[in-house]
Amino acid sequence: MASAPRYRVRAYAKINLGLNIAQRRPDGFHELRTILQTISLADDLVIEVRRGRGISLTVTGDAPADSSNLAWRAAALAAESWAIRGHVALHLTKRIPAGAGLGGGSSDAAAVLRALALTARRPPAPAAVLALGAQLGSDVPALVLGGTVLGLGRGEEVYTLADLAPWHCVLAMPRGGAGKAISTPEAYARWDLHHPGLTPLAASATIMRFCSLVQQVLPAFRAPLTVTRNREFPSGGSKVHAGIENDFQPEVFSLSPDFPRIHRQLQRASAAWVSLTGSGAAQFGLFAEAGRAAQAAARLAVRDRSWHARFVPRSQFLRGVSVVS
Ligand code: C5P
Repeated sequence: MASAPRYRVRAYAKINLGLNIAQRRPDGFHELRTILQTISLADDLVIEVRRGRGISLTVTGDAPADSSNLAWRAAALAAESWAIRGHVALHLTKRIPAGAGLGGGSSDAAAVLRALALTARRPPAPAAVLALGAQLGSDVPALVLGGTVLGLGRGEEVYTLADLAPWHCVLAMPRGGAGKAISTPEAYARWDLHHPGLTPLAASATIMRFCSLVQQVLPAFRAPLTVTRNREFPSGGSKVHAGIENDFQPEVFSLSPDFPRIHRQLQRASAAWVSLTGSGAAQFGLFAEAGRAAQAAARLAVRDRSWHARFVPRSQFLRGVSVVS
């Protein structure tokens, strides 16, 4: 076979700007409504289809280098579905922490699908890439699209939204102890325990509410940085805030006082919006100014793990695939 190019893909992390959980479905998943945003904290994936068969994975950083890794499973599924012949060699440089709600594993899988779609002799339709992503995990399709995405269904039904302002994003999670990875299935099981008997009708009411609140809240996230002041932002306690907050937040906050402490610290640093992402353990604060964000990240780093990232709009996300020699 002719040698295929080697691709490098930036596998960007995501945050959930809002997350409403509705009822548990017969298939065990939960209906949810969420807005995902890709951010500049990223893993790096180098992928090449060589002569031979099978899949190999090497990892720099903290992730399994075997078939339990979602990147490996994505490569296996794509190779089979798109009749990719050859040996798929993956090298992953891991930076996104696991169990943080930042979509690290899902983003790696999405990066594999994006690159392998380019190597397929018959390139799959975009909808087919999303469908394969949904088989791998609920967050994978949103991370195939990138930018700002509305996620419905179990999260896998995705709609691209217009770009938001280029917010700075400070991420933080406790070190060790309370900050150990939070398992998504356990987080949903805990939520079920505390919210028994949510009927589909009640759930659909929350869905309508979420969608209408999103209409009200998103313009504030899009406001030009020069006119966005904390007091004008909806998280300042005004009417439009309630409704899109992350439903996992109260659950996670009850696990350890470190979580509400980090939340308060981000608020005190004048973040315009503070929230848990996914089912945790990371929280984020949004800042209009780089300096304030850097200062907040540095203060948090004294006690916690913290990162300073920026929103990655879809145009930048799409440029994150390059051919390497
Ligand atoms: O889709 P993903 O593999 O990320 O889901 C992991 C687990 O999280 C599922 O097996 C399920 O227990 C839970 N989950 C859920 N509802 C969702 C997404 C995930 O209950 N919408």
